[in-house]
Amino acid sequence: MNTSYEIAIIGGGVIGSSIAYHLAKQGQKVILLEKGSLAQGASSAAAGMLGAQSEEQESEAFFHLARKSRELFPLLATELKEYSGIDIGLVSKGTLKVALTVEQVKAYQKLISFHLRAGEQADWISENEARTMEPHLSDQILGGVYIEKDGHVQAPKLSLAFAKSAAVLGAVIREFAEVRSVLTQNGSIIGIETNEGRIDCERVVVATGTGRSDLLAQLGLSLPIFPVKGECFSVTTHAPLLQRTVFAEGCYLVPKAGGRLVVGATMVERSFERSVSVAGITSLLMEARRLVPAIANATWESAWAGLRPQTPDGLPYLGEAAGCKGLYVACGHFRNGILLSPITGEVMADLIAGKPPRVPIDAFRLDRTLAAANLQEKAVK
Ligand code: FAD
Ligand code: GLY
Repeated sequence: MNTSYEIAIIGGGVIGSSIAYHLAKQGQKVILLEKGSLAQGASSAAAGMLGAQSEEQESEAFFHLARKSRELFPLLATELKEYSGIDIGLVSKGTLKVALTVEQVKAYQKLISFHLRAGEQADWISENEARTMEPHLSDQILGGVYIEKDGHVQAPKLSLAFAKSAAVLGAVIREFAEVRSVLTQNGSIIGIETNEGRIDCERVVVATGTGRSDLLAQLGLSLPIFPVKGECFSVTTHAPLLQRTVFAEGCYLVPKAGGRLVVGATMVERSFERSVSVAGITSLLMEARRLVPAIANATWESAWAGLRPQTPDGLPYLGEAAGCKGLYVACGHFRNGILLSPITGEVMADLIAGKPPRVPIDAFRLDRTLAAANLQEKAVK
């Protein structure tokens, strides 16, 4: 077994797998280590929305990153299919962000102005227009914003396609390999210690999601990440109930291939367990029924939960650690890790190759000042 690589990536979720793919494409000698099965964490729980405009965002840097990442999906879907044979299920039919209250109507009209100023498309759709587009929408809808470019993918397939494509390009993928410590000498990375022994490497990328490891703390790096549990369920119908994603406050419905409809998701802060609660699913069902009453006649498929990796300021950590040469972090993608996975892979590969990242990532640097008020409350060691 080879025990020496240029780069070791810790975490086989969508973020670690995308970074492995982009580095392998550059011809780097990479190993990806996952403590369980690939994509066993949040990356399999995700609904797969590419919500660059539909998800709320206050940070301009984040909005820019999200839109850049969304742009990459059509070509990426083709490339990943060629390398891995996996179809990531990209659907580009847009998202309807619906308003149920007068306050939401006002807020969404402001949102449209913001998107138009940013050079993006976003159209106000009246109640009648919304129901012409999606006849199963209820008459409680007051209208909504139609966002043409916010599509969706099959999240677990995207993760696996990144990992398999990386392997086809020469990366080594190791499942059930837990990294227990990162080894340094004179302030530089020299390797990692795993449950299967030591691996020598010059660079390490930590992409462990909400992983409760002390890997960074051992190196004196404090980057708080706390879990926000999300529960989802899916149903099936003979004829699809929706063509487009319907996004509302408290609930979204994402139509997948084969008449599947994924409904998500709850937000349970500081929960490390992944059980599905009756209360969580009941609240989603009520919201979903309020939006699309015909869901009551659908056939139940399944329910699941996953842990979103949240940071105190809501922005991911992307960059190299000051004071430890060769240590990189790509964690904390919260509600948007699927959307942000292609651009994260690209910019991390740029950084590691010593090139300026193709998108500004200063706002995501590891040594930024985090919202101090949230730190004590939310940090999980
Ligand atoms: P993970 O997928 O959690 O992967 C981290 C991996 O690291 C895990 O597999 C873990 O086992 C491994 N690991 C941890 N420690 C170690 C170690 N010491 N050694 C080896 N391996 C280790 N995002 C979107 O863009 N669109 C959506 O529609 C969307 N919907 C969501 C719905 C729900 C219900 C949830 C929960 C999340 C959703 N997200 C969505 C968010 C998205 O899923 C996450 O942001 C993303 O999956 C994070 O990816 P990750 O690779 O950082 O983490
Ligand atoms: N982005 C959807 C979610 O996190 O639930």
